[in-house]
Order: sequence, then C-alpha cells, then structure tokens
Amino acid sequence: MSIQWFPGHMAKARREVSEKLKFVDIVFELIDARLPLSSRNPMLDQIVQQKPRLILLNKADLADPNQTNLWVNYFREQGYPVLALTAKSDKSVKQIIPASKKVLAEKIARDNERGIKPRAIRAMVLGIPNVGKSTLLNHLAGKKVASTGNRPGVTKGQQWLRFGSQLELLDTPGILWPKFEDPAVGKKLALTGAIKDDLLHLDDLALYELEMFSRFYPEQLKERYKLTEDDLFKELPELLMLISEKRGFRDDYERASEMLILELRQGKLGRYTLDRFEELSE
Ligand code: G4P
Repeated sequence: MSIQWFPGHMAKARREVSEKLKFVDIVFELIDARLPLSSRNPMLDQIVQQKPRLILLNKADLADPNQTNLWVNYFREQGYPVLALTAKSDKSVKQIIPASKKVLAEKIARDNERGIKPRAIRAMVLGIPNVGKSTLLNHLAGKKVASTGNRPGVTKGQQWLRFGSQLELLDTPGILWPKFEDPAVGKKLALTGAIKDDLLHLDDLALYELEMFSRFYPEQLKERYKLTEDDLFKELPELLMLISEKRGFRDDYERASEMLILELRQGKLGRYTLDRFEELSE
C-alpha cells in the first residue's frame, strides 16, 4: 500500500501542540468511537506527558453501543478518565465540564487551600483530522467567543473560546495524524472518512467493509442488501458481485464498491465499531 506517514508533518504538529500545552490545564483527546485504537495518535502519550487528559470517544451516535461500553471500561481500567460523546449534541457536550472538574479535583482543591481564586478551566482539543474537533468547539463555545489573546506567554492572536464562566478553550485544536502503516488501520480510517479514500482501491475498501460486516454485523448487512444467510458464506468477491447484480450495476464492481462505502458513511448500514474490543489482545 502506498500510504505514507510523513515524519515531517508529525514533527511540526508535535511542536505546535507542545507549545500550546503550556497554557492549558487539561487536554481533551478526541477519538472516533468506531475506532478507539486506530483513530489515536500513537505518540500522544509522549507528546502530552503528564498533562491531565480527558478522553472523549466522539461520534458515539454512530458507534455500536455495546462496543463503546467495553471501550469506555477499557480506558478507565488503563487509568484514563473517559466519556462517550456526540459532539453534535449539546446535551452530550455538557458532561464535559463536570468530568473535567473531576479530573482536576486535586489541583482545584490545592488552589483553594492556597487561597487562589477559582478561575475557568483552560483546555485544548486534540485529535486526528475529521474526528469532530471543530464540531466540539462550536458546540461547547456556542457563539460566545472571547477575544482574549493576552494570556501571559500565549502567541499573539491566539483566541480563547469561553463556555460560561467555567471553561476556556484554545480556539485552534491540535491536529495529530493517525499512524496507518498497518493496512487494516488504513482501511478502517478510510471507511470512516478520516483519510481520503483515493489513497486506497475502492474495491479493497468495499471488500474489507463486507468482511467486517459479515463477521460482526451480519443482520445489518442482510437487511440492507436483501441477502440470505447462505449468501454470507460466499467468498467476499462473490458477495460483492452478488450485491452489484442486485443493485443493477452488473459487473461494474467499482460502482458497487463506491455505493457500499457511501452507504456505510451515510449510516445506512446502521451503527458499527471496527476496532473490536475482543480482538484487543491480538
Ligand atoms: P475536525 O475538526 O476534527 O476535522 O472534524 P469536524 O468537526 O470538521 O467533523 C468532521 C465530520 O464529522 C463533520 O461532518 C461533522 O459534522 C461530523 N461529526 C462530528 N462530531 C460528530 C458526532 O458526534 N456525530 C456525528 N454523527 N457526526 C459528527 P461532515 O460531513 O464533514 O460535515 P457536516 O455533515 O456537519 O456538514
């Protein structure tokens, strides 16, 4: 596969994030709930180091809720505070402030003891492209954008978005890149739209989609493409051919592949999670 992970991009992103980290109390790490491993930056621990962090499993509305519960528990067991989130919904983002306070409880108590006046929590959003960083910022900040570029040491022009009196967010999120040397990770990221699919062959992607859905979501696949139980035992290319015929595309497998990918992205195959908790040990 020809996808490259550019070390130059990574170094620049890393520098930019490290600069901003100095000004915040907490980092919100956004992950795609459908890909709780593949949509993380593998060097994040190194970059964020000891800075308190809240993991947000975003797009929970699109993910398989059973898997999301398992992943939430997994991150908790690893010692990370975590929330499942739908950045598009105001109700869901409201949980972020109490969760942040909990993460910073010790610091807040220490400040209180020292007589330091409580101030808004300062945070930055971090994540790979398309994971919902801008959506979260917009929903958190509403229309109340504070023009406060003058925090000590903050780059001139750096804006903070204010959410009530309790939270301030750096207006530009930190963008990190996923690492997709593993072909399966690349396919998962392309299927969910995190990376461009012109980097991969459409039929490879569609076959992978069929493989995952026939293993983990056979009912959803059967229902959408009017398949029988027996159809799911076919070899994957045969299954693609069958779906192509059923949709009237005959032997235009490229068109059938495109349709499969598009319908997955449009949510027509229902909710799904491609990073499987039960395969973690592999
Ligand atoms: P980024 O800043 O991290 O690059 O991501 P951005 O907020 O631009 O979000 C990327 C896409 O993901 C957007 O869709 C956005 O609406 C969608 N999205 C973000 N959070 C959620 C969520 O919690 N649930 C769902 N279902 N979708 C979410 P888009 O198709 O690019 O744009 P649009 O449909 O909003 O116009």
